[in-house]
Amino acid sequence: MKKTAPKKSAPTLKFDTNWKYDPAPESADHVVIDKQYGLFINGKMQAPVKGKYFNTINPARETVLASVADATSEDVDKAVTAARNAHSKVWSKMKPAERGKYIYRIARIMQERARELAIIESLDGGKPIRESRDIDVPLAAAHFFYYAGWADKLNYALPGKQVTSLGVAGQIIPWNFPLLMAAWKIAPALAAGNTVVLKPAETTPLTALKLAEIIRDADLPPGVVNIITGAGATGSALVNHPGIDKVAFTGSTDVGKIIQKALAGTDKKYTLELGGKAANIIFEDAAIDQAVEGIINGIFFNQGHVCCAGSRLFIQESVAATVIRKLKDRMETLIVGDPLDKNTDIGAINSKPQLDKIKALVKAGVAQGGSMHQSSCAIPSKGFWFRPTIFTGVAQSSRIVQEEIFGPVLAIQTFRTVEEVIEKANNTPFGLSGGVWSDKGSKVFKVSSKLRAGVVWANTYNKFDPTSPFGGYKESGMGREGGMHGLYPYVQVKD
Ligand code: NAI
Ligand code: MG
Repeated sequence: MKKTAPKKSAPTLKFDTNWKYDPAPESADHVVIDKQYGLFINGKMQAPVKGKYFNTINPARETVLASVADATSEDVDKAVTAARNAHSKVWSKMKPAERGKYIYRIARIMQERARELAIIESLDGGKPIRESRDIDVPLAAAHFFYYAGWADKLNYALPGKQVTSLGVAGQIIPWNFPLLMAAWKIAPALAAGNTVVLKPAETTPLTALKLAEIIRDADLPPGVVNIITGAGATGSALVNHPGIDKVAFTGSTDVGKIIQKALAGTDKKYTLELGGKAANIIFEDAAIDQAVEGIINGIFFNQGHVCCAGSRLFIQESVAATVIRKLKDRMETLIVGDPLDKNTDIGAINSKPQLDKIKALVKAGVAQGGSMHQSSCAIPSKGFWFRPTIFTGVAQSSRIVQEEIFGPVLAIQTFRTVEEVIEKANNTPFGLSGGVWSDKGSKVFKVSSKLRAGVVWANTYNKFDPTSPFGGYKESGMGREGGMHGLYPYVQVKD
């Protein structure tokens, strides 16, 4: 009898769920970052009066990118004086259509340098290149394009009124959308005939300094836009300078309150865009898979460093188990890591202090009885990172439900009725944004009109457009930016 070889058992099939993408790094070789930057005052880069500088780092690697000037009150004074002269002698006298041309020019040069700007934004702040390339930079250019169009049409924005500019605007911006926030601030101010002193955040000054180069290359008259770097003390010196007519601030509610107190009793106008703790509401009749994408986008976009982030999730009880299961599965596919890799979904946390704040609040969430789940992804050993995190079993009074975490951390609650979720959603000191997911239009309209929030998205989340006003209720601030509404805080109206 012929002997047959013993049969080998078939190999077990392995479904490796940890699917690895090949790295797709964006090259930063062509990007020029100077070793040291001065202050952009009166159309020129100038050394700070006191000669002080500080470093800005790459939060993904903890390496120094550049040293930037630490502006003191003397520098603030120089910048405000330059802006005042430019306003009274040049910008306010210029034909509005001419002002518009300059603003268009800024927009076009931003588009030409889009790739470089996106890379620097990701290097300096830690956000994924996919986001800086596809969202931050194009939207920033779009803001300049949009407001350029308004420059010679202010009489249409305010028909029958006599409209003049305010003068000099002092503008202070945060680190989560550095270039985009600079655009939100500068574009409407210039269109309405004001001049500007802008201070970027201390951890992300580089794209604002690149914008200074663009403004110089666009040949704007000296002093129309001045960009000065520094931390809170510089911001405070700007707010308190007697030579400014208007303050525009985006940042924390705490600093917003300090600014509001400092301005009380002065004739300075102000707009404040502060924190948020948005409710993202999923009804049982929603398209669940789309809603799960909306939850992911709502809380993990830009590492959760988003004032309008959907950081409180409300799921109708009947679909809660399904939504949470799908959400956990989707979280496993998120890639956390190198911000310059095009596959990356979640980049680096912007700074060590911000990482510490997220960790402290997550610890409080656990201590107060919340049940935490994190994705199992690997995170780099160097740099500042935080895994996508969700909490269930949290009380309405829990700190992670009440406080802005500004990180990739979601607090999940359930509800049964429409009335119940409206009450829970509004039970917050904030009121910036919200999301509603349902296939019933009437339900969407009812709920969104009852939410005390400036922006409510229906069956989508985190959609931005320069034509759409944005701003908050309650402790989320006051005033609107974007759209025609964004012009109003920058004009003086005579009937
Ligand atoms: P922050 O409010 O201190 O910083 C924002 C800007 O204000 C920066 O340019 C900063 O230099 C400036 N600034 C600080 N103190 C100032 C003062 N006394 N007067 C004038 N300007 C001043 O925000 P921070 O400390 O970086 O972040 C803390 C928390 O604030 C975050 O964890 C987050 O919850 C919240 N935040 C909210 C933002 C939003 O877009 N709503 C943006 C940034 C932070
Ligand atoms: Mg930095």
